[in-house]
Amino acid sequence: MSSPPVDGSASSHLFRHVLARFASGVTVVTVDAGGERAGFTASSFASLSLEPPLVLLCAARRLDALGLIERGQRFGVSILGVQQRELGLRFAGLLPGVDDRFAGVPLVAGRSGSPWLAGCLAWIDCRLWRLYDGGDHAIVVGEVLEAALGEAGEPLGYFERHWQRLSRLEPPAVASADARLLLRAVSPRLQADEFVFVGVRGALPDGAVPVVVFEEAEGASAILSRRDAERGGLPYHGVFRQITLEVDSDLHVVGLVAAVSDALARAGIACNVVSALRHDHLFVPAADAERALATLRGLQAAARAGAP
Ligand SMILES: Cc1cc2nc3c(=O)[nH]c(=O)nc-3n(C[C@H](O)[C@H](O)[C@H](O)COP(=O)(O)O)c2cc1C
Repeated sequence: MSSPPVDGSASSHLFRHVLARFASGVTVVTVDAGGERAGFTASSFASLSLEPPLVLLCAARRLDALGLIERGQRFGVSILGVQQRELGLRFAGLLPGVDDRFAGVPLVAGRSGSPWLAGCLAWIDCRLWRLYDGGDHAIVVGEVLEAALGEAGEPLGYFERHWQRLSRLEPPAVASADARLLLRAVSPRLQADEFVFVGVRGALPDGAVPVVVFEEAEGASAILSRRDAERGGLPYHGVFRQITLEVDSDLHVVGLVAAVSDALARAGIACNVVSALRHDHLFVPAADAERALATLRGLQAAARAGAP
């Protein structure tokens, strides 16, 4: 059921309800301007730009913290973990009897001196970049001076006015119907040659025919036969064998590579997949090649035995 659209006269009840359907993480924004501190819980935090590194958040105009950010030109952002709901409540002014939000809260200092809350998933320290008008809020854009990671952990979430645990979804069922059909026909073949991954500076050795060359910003890398690499004196780590799958697809099939990688991963075998028009090429550590072949043949047999 949909509700009537929000028009100019904005049913603020509906508007708030709709916005509450947007799940977010939770941060605490803190500022210390010449010894005067303020902080508030903010879920409007977002990444904005990588180059230059910018983040944004929206702060209610009435917040003292906003004035302090303007005055001090700095602020910190602490990203809360699921164990830190109390900090979320405290810095939203929702813990009764708390006058000083910082009292008893362990802090660490970012480079620019903004207080960070200890024990968070990550922190960012910003210089104020710009302030934009955002109605009853200001859009605060910060240039990131420093970013740091805390302990890995689950994030604290907020959705429909409730604190949430944001749990990871199970991976999707790997083989779509299309992929299962394709799997029946893949006929894995283990090629005789051994291959290596090499960084290429300048030309490849004369006569070398790479399976593939990747041109990257940092320079080129290639998959070459071990013979060619050794002939050209190119250093490498690890030797790989190539398993070729008949695919004959136009690369639109979803899930084949996922199904193959998943089966190999379950067998503890690393693989690098290079997809082409008529074949997929899997590069697996030479020591695991026979086991990888058996695993893929098993996968194909299962697909053939399964329902259409
Ligand atoms: C989960 C959550 C997210 C919030 N996100 C924001 C936000 O992005 N921007 C904002 O201005 N206020 C946000 N608030 C509200 C402020 O934290 C709150 O209004 C402020 O701390 C009140 O400070 P005051 O008592 O000094 O007015 C949020 C509150 C909660 C509970």
